[in-house]
Amino acid sequence: MPEINQNGAVKFFLTLAFLTATTASLPSSPDRFLKSALTSLRSPYKPKKYEELSQPLPSDQLTPSCSHVLLRHSFANTINAPPFTTPYTPPSGCTSPPWSYVVLDLRATSSGDQYDRISGLWLGGVELLRTSTAEPNPTGIFWNVRKDVSRYSSLFMRSDLNVTMMLENIVNDVYTGIYHINVTLHFYESNHIASKPKISSRVGVDGSQRSDQAPADLIIPLCDEGNRGFWFMIESPAETHSKRIQIPSNTRRIVLELYVSFHGNDEFWYSNPPNSYITTNNLATGRGNGAFREVVVKIDGRYVGSEVPFPVIFTGGINPLFWEPVVAIGAFNLPSYDMDLTPFLGLLLDGKSHEFALGVNDGISYWLVDANLHLWLNHESSNVEAGSGRCDSPSRHMVRRAKFEEELDGSFRVEAEVHSEFDGWVKSSEGNLTTVVKSMFKVGNLVKFEQNGSYKRVEQSVKTKRVVEVTSESGEPVKRVVQQRAYPLTVITSTLGELSANDKDMYLLVTNVSHALEEMYSSGEALTELYNRQDSEGWMQVEDHNVLAGEATTRQSFSYVDEFSCYSRNIVAANGEITLNSSSDTCASSSSS
Ligand SMILES: *[C@@H]1O[C@H](CO)[C@@H](O)[C@H](O)[C@H]1NC(C)=O
Ligand SMILES: *[C@@H]1O[C@H](CO)[C@@H](O)[C@H](O)[C@H]1NC(C)=O
Ligand SMILES: *[C@@H]1O[C@H](CO)[C@@H](O)[C@H](O)[C@H]1NC(C)=O
Ligand SMILES: *[C@@H]1O[C@H](CO)[C@@H](O)[C@H](O)[C@H]1NC(C)=O
Ligand SMILES: *[C@@H]1O[C@H](CO)[C@@H](O)[C@H](O)[C@H]1NC(C)=O
Ligand SMILES: *[C@@H]1O[C@H](CO)[C@@H](O)[C@H](O)[C@H]1NC(C)=O
Repeated sequence: MPEINQNGAVKFFLTLAFLTATTASLPSSPDRFLKSALTSLRSPYKPKKYEELSQPLPSDQLTPSCSHVLLRHSFANTINAPPFTTPYTPPSGCTSPPWSYVVLDLRATSSGDQYDRISGLWLGGVELLRTSTAEPNPTGIFWNVRKDVSRYSSLFMRSDLNVTMMLENIVNDVYTGIYHINVTLHFYESNHIASKPKISSRVGVDGSQRSDQAPADLIIPLCDEGNRGFWFMIESPAETHSKRIQIPSNTRRIVLELYVSFHGNDEFWYSNPPNSYITTNNLATGRGNGAFREVVVKIDGRYVGSEVPFPVIFTGGINPLFWEPVVAIGAFNLPSYDMDLTPFLGLLLDGKSHEFALGVNDGISYWLVDANLHLWLNHESSNVEAGSGRCDSPSRHMVRRAKFEEELDGSFRVEAEVHSEFDGWVKSSEGNLTTVVKSMFKVGNLVKFEQNGSYKRVEQSVKTKRVVEVTSESGEPVKRVVQQRAYPLTVITSTLGELSANDKDMYLLVTNVSHALEEMYSSGEALTELYNRQDSEGWMQVEDHNVLAGEATTRQSFSYVDEFSCYSRNIVAANGEITLNSSSDTCASSSSS
């Protein structure tokens, strides 16, 4: 086992520079790795804490009025098995809703060798959390995920539901890590935070509640049967999964919340070359179809919305040494995506069931996708009328350019832009309100191979904007919500060659990743901004998919500002240890005084 120190690393590089840059497994590409025994050298004494940076929850300083265990389970060799299921009982000793906050608290431990695993948690088929695991080491690791789940409040009083968690894991002589998971719900009552400033405006990127949005009255899942988890598994572009759903006739507002993660040949979809590159070079890889993906939602075969997901990198991804002990953005709490479908109530309120379908444009094996329909009902009367206005198909602009150079080199570009605008009116006891939903996204992607395919550079920019405007019958504005997100991403993977002639599977990979999640959310005058960026660089010695040695540094800056609070955090992790960790909750001088 090579020593992990600066001098050792430098020496390693010099030796390698004289080797020819060829490997058996070309081209160089982001992949999924196992840290193997490497990290055991680093933390021989005590279990290490892993973390995903996030803003504090408003309830963090408060004592819950009650806490309720959802599940405790150890996920060992769960591959090909049904999910873990247990009956849900509503919390006792808590007064009834509305609760100010409900927080989901997941605690996990693991030790041994194990790949990262994807997991979903559902209550009555409604997804509450999409998460993935950190790769453990022999001395053990642990982590904690806290998520505001207040928007699911209407489910928590029901006693006819099961809690379900899917986490397929493999435990054998090689992969020894078992994931031990506890999930608890904490309920906070209104009077417990009456004395606090009302800091309930949350960034919705973690699927949490907004100040302008009381929890829905009813949530209907758009999901699978549940024998293999409630998500739909999508393995080809032609595949759509659907469910017939009847919307109650007194629905006055409907928002679809989409959950999505990507795996297998599409785990790094943003780095996939077009199929022409693969066939021209006679490559064995299944990772093709180009680098554009779009999750599409349809009702009765008609497009109602789509989303280019944030490219979450799991803890084994690209270079697993980057993600210890600070994991990639979204790895423990994958973002969900809201689409306001209120303009379509004119279509949906006819007392009949309608086909809600999910698919992935250009998607290959495999995507895990489901959705929750959040419904707000008219309580005063069961009589809601609605009509749909403009429902044109979206305008699309898409350009793909392929430039082949010598041998394995080439560059491949995708530019895409999609705009849609829908409107409809709903007459309830709130009056006759017209909702206009405008959506836009713009994607630019470059995948470039150089040095006979041993150097690969991926650059992607995704920008999305959604505007929801509600006006009264007399044309008065009632509400205006704007959400803008940007996901810049750069990934470099450079293979430096075989380490010895008789060990073709061993090579050195230099990797760089920069990515960010930026969000601006405004509702009327209230503005929330989130900025979350990670820059990672390093190298690793790899044999097959095992990391034998390496060095890595990740720098992250996180900041969150809303009407009532500011929070920022800077962290640097180098070779598995935190070397800088600063945080602040004071607002910059720009704030009014
Ligand atoms: C889960 O809860 C049990 C009982 O309180 C405790 O013994 C165990 O350590 C917990 N496990 C985790 C992963 O927090
Ligand atoms: C809950 O799970 C049990 C065991 O899998 C099953 O028999 C029961 O029908 C489920 N209940 C609901 C409401 O889905
Ligand atoms: C480029 O890579 C291919 C595939 O590994 C190999 O056959 C070819 O010899 C390489 N060319 C050079 C100039 O190294
Ligand atoms: C509601 O308002 C829209 C647009 O102003 C109008 O077209 C529609 O007829 C109204 N509906 C009812 C039931 O008054
Ligand atoms: C990775 O990033 C570092 C720092 O920005 C840079 O010096 C290095 O050249 C990059 N590596 C590659 C392979 O591009
Ligand atoms: C880093 O700082 C945060 C916030 O100040 C603190 O809660 C956390 O315990 C620190 N972590 C480490 C590993 O020092």
